Amino acid sequence: AAIKSKGEHTTLTISIIMSIIAGLCAHSCLPKLRDTFIKANLSGRDLLKKDKPLLPETMGLPVAIIYLITLFLFIPFPFIDWFEGAHLVHKVDPSMGTFPYNKLGEILSAILAIQSMILLGFADDVLDVRWRYKVWFPAIAGIPLMIFYYTNKGVTYVMMPVQLRPYLGDLVDLGPLYYVYMGILIIFCTHSINILAGINGIEAGQSIVIGISVIINDLLFVFNNPDRASVEAHLFSLYFIIPFVGVTCALLWHNWFPARLFVGDTFCYFAGMTLAVVGILGHFSKTLLLFFLPQIFNFIYSCPQLFRLVECPRHRMPRLNDQGLLQCSTVRLNDKKPMGRLGNLALKFLRTLGLLKVFEYDQDNRIVEPPELNSLQQEQSHPSPLLDVVNQDEPQIITSSLTNGPAPTTFASTSVSTKKE
Ligand code: UD1
Ligand code: MG
Repeated sequence: AAIKSKGEHTTLTISIIMSIIAGLCAHSCLPKLRDTFIKANLSGRDLLKKDKPLLPETMGLPVAIIYLITLFLFIPFPFIDWFEGAHLVHKVDPSMGTFPYNKLGEILSAILAIQSMILLGFADDVLDVRWRYKVWFPAIAGIPLMIFYYTNKGVTYVMMPVQLRPYLGDLVDLGPLYYVYMGILIIFCTHSINILAGINGIEAGQSIVIGISVIINDLLFVFNNPDRASVEAHLFSLYFIIPFVGVTCALLWHNWFPARLFVGDTFCYFAGMTLAVVGILGHFSKTLLLFFLPQIFNFIYSCPQLFRLVECPRHRMPRLNDQGLLQCSTVRLNDKKPMGRLGNLALKFLRTLGLLKVFEYDQDNRIVEPPELNSLQQEQSHPSPLLDVVNQDEPQIITSSLTNGPAPTTFASTSVSTKKE
């Protein structure tokens, strides 16, 4: 097997045991913190339940703290062979050389980046920072990581996919652009988890799916790859991701429908940053993006709203209909700020791709939602300010089980919250 020393097996086992303990800890802590968080006003209403119960929010914070404590306690283990007296406990490889300060630096810079992200995420939860500022938070938190990368003679080339190699060569050096790429990756990973949200369990759920994919990918490398550097990079990734999955399982348990708590933006940032960090320092950022495909799709799909071509309300979650089912919600277009031509074009484009189920509007700009629209004729009798041609065979109301996936589909708004945009 490619994993070399017995010490590495032990370290991996210790990481797994610590992650299980961390998960159990988080599982029992979370319900106990409920009242404390509600008392501190860190709470929100579950808008998709009939009675709209008040639930503690920002519960990603205790989870993130348990994660950090786990990592702090874990730091010595990968270096245990260099400790005095290690040879008394087990056989130490005599060729191992001097203490690998760069490895320690790597772990510390990763922890620093994750910790900064948790701090900024908490600030966002408490202060409700505006989007135009908070977009940059992850890039700020990622600075320690980039500095470490730079001082550690980080490579700035990317390996090309096999299909492109005949044209571009095996490796392409991005130079300083590589740092821009890392910044964008960090910003994307954090916010993409945050905007694929709005129904119980989806923030924590998607993080676990990506986390487990990363673990499987890492294990394949660690046990099958003869290249020492790549084994070490993936071991590093495992040390960060296994405890992450451990604590997130506990969070998901309580956030699962019907949710007893909300994860808050703190968790979304924490999750995105942890995944980005292992992708960057484990040198598999492109593979990581493959695991983010649903989030990439949701992001591209949301672009007309994110870039304000189409009105973007505070919440884009589905709404609860009279039958107690979740239903795709719609955006009420703003009379004062009519949608521009670009917005219209973007919507038409999405509709051409079959990605848009258009809701009609009447003269008062109210949404008309008959259960079975057979659009063309209806369209002529109720001209829509949104799109000029509507030709849809499907019923206009769809029961949406996902969240923002169908968002621009849905020019949506259940603007209940008073938070600022
Ligand atoms: C992001 C989304 C927003 C979505 C919101 C839901 C974008 C640009 N923003 O905003 O469209 O509505 O997440 O998390 O895509 N809530 C529920 N049930 C849930 C989860 C959340 O009712 O299962 C409500 C609660 O009132 C909670 C609030 O959403 O207090 C949390 O929203 P927050 O995370 O602050 O929203 P954003 O991340 O800003
Ligand atoms: Mg959020």
